[in-house]
Amino acid sequence: MRRALICVTLAGSLGMSNQADRPFDQTKTLAQLRQQIAGKEQLPAEEVFRNIQDYKGVPAASLLRGMEFYGRVLGVTCTHCHVADQWERDDKPAKQITREMSAMVDTITSTLRKMRNLPSERPGVPCATCHRGQLKPATAESVVDRPESVVGRSGLQTGTRRRPEDHGGLRTAS
Ligand code: HEC
Ligand code: HEC
Repeated sequence: MRRALICVTLAGSLGMSNQADRPFDQTKTLAQLRQQIAGKEQLPAEEVFRNIQDYKGVPAASLLRGMEFYGRVLGVTCTHCHVADQWERDDKPAKQITREMSAMVDTITSTLRKMRNLPSERPGVPCATCHRGQLKPATAESVVDRPESVVGRSGLQTGTRRRPEDHGGLRTAS
């Protein structure tokens, strides 16, 4: 932890903290990780991290950006999927679910791309298509009965769900 703080100070003075304001120490955490991979940003993630299955061949720095993205599209911070600072562990179900979700996205995308006459040239289903800043995607019921819940304004049926407004960011992501 003490070491983390030193890294954060360094990273901060280098102007590396470009994360959205969040209650959890996600900004610090990311600054620390960026410091730890300094000089290795462009190496394949599997050479820099310990338990890479999905991000093989992807630059290490891009993996960290992907992690931030996951948090934003789902409306969570790192610890929803990770035991903090033990990133390689697979204990939390959400981490493995995420790998399966990525595989699902690939499957759906390849199906979409076989369809003719869709309006988009390259249709896809990024996580945001379903999640829209929340862990639980819209259900038929939530859309039909309570249209406002789809945009996360009010009336979300799960009291524990965090709203996009609570952590910002999503609406600025495409
Ligand atoms: C929605 C789930 C999810 C969230 C949120 C998430 N991660 Fe991850 N993280 C994963 C998955 C899945 C992997 C494994 C990727 C793979 O297999 O290639 C991973 C891998 C990692 C790794 C590589 C670990 C190793 O040694 O193999 C690091 C570091 C990491 N995440 C950091 C973070 C940080 C920091 C945050 C918060 C900014 C974060 N993650 C948010 C799902 C998540
Ligand atoms: C086609 C729609 C769809 C897409 C695209 C999609 N998901 Fe999901 N996701 C779901 C559904 C449905 C559930 C299950 C919700 C439930 O059980 O109530 C779910 C559940 C999850 C969960 C578990 C929720 C929890 O409480 O931890 C995680 C994590 C998750 N998705 C991550 C992702 C990530 C990351 C992506 C992009 C790589 C993604 N999903 C893309 C539909 C989708």
